[in-house]
Amino acid sequence: MSTQVGVLFVCLGNICRSPTAEGVFRARVAAAGLADRIRIDSAGTAGWHAGKPPDARSIRYAAQRGIDISALRARQVAPADFLQFDVVLAMDNDNREALLRMAPPAQRHKVALFLDHAPAAGVREVPDPYYGGAEDFARVLDLVEQAADGLLGRLRERLA
Ligand code: 4NP
Repeated sequence: MSTQVGVLFVCLGNICRSPTAEGVFRARVAAAGLADRIRIDSAGTAGWHAGKPPDARSIRYAAQRGIDISALRARQVAPADFLQFDVVLAMDNDNREALLRMAPPAQRHKVALFLDHAPAAGVREVPDPYYGGAEDFARVLDLVEQAADGLLGRLRERLA
């Protein structure tokens, strides 16, 4: 049995999808009483937005579902992340491939797609909403909520 597990959510810019995933999953984990057992963070494979808060649209759409992500700040994935986290979950295939290129060979098994935890969603990627509209940001929330529930179920088993 593990005492703690670390989860890192990864997208491209760390201002739309992965901070949304971090915020939603934090809320789920806190509601389940597992905040001291599951360590959560997010990062981007690109560093363009490092230090910035999430996109204003992501903040607004998350807030509509009771999730406050306004205090999060973007950062780029670092080599140490592959040692410090047990699970590294990419929002899409491009980012999954970027993570696999970056990861030390012994840590590659930690990299997966976030939507592997939402088999009923019918898609495997959370589409990039950055150049999209309202419905694209709402879709991110829908997919992230489904996968967060699936992931929490898996980690409960792992921590049991
Ligand atoms: P994210 O969305 O990867 O979900 O944070 C994006 C944010 C910024 C850019 C692309 C995607 N960009 O090109 O700056």
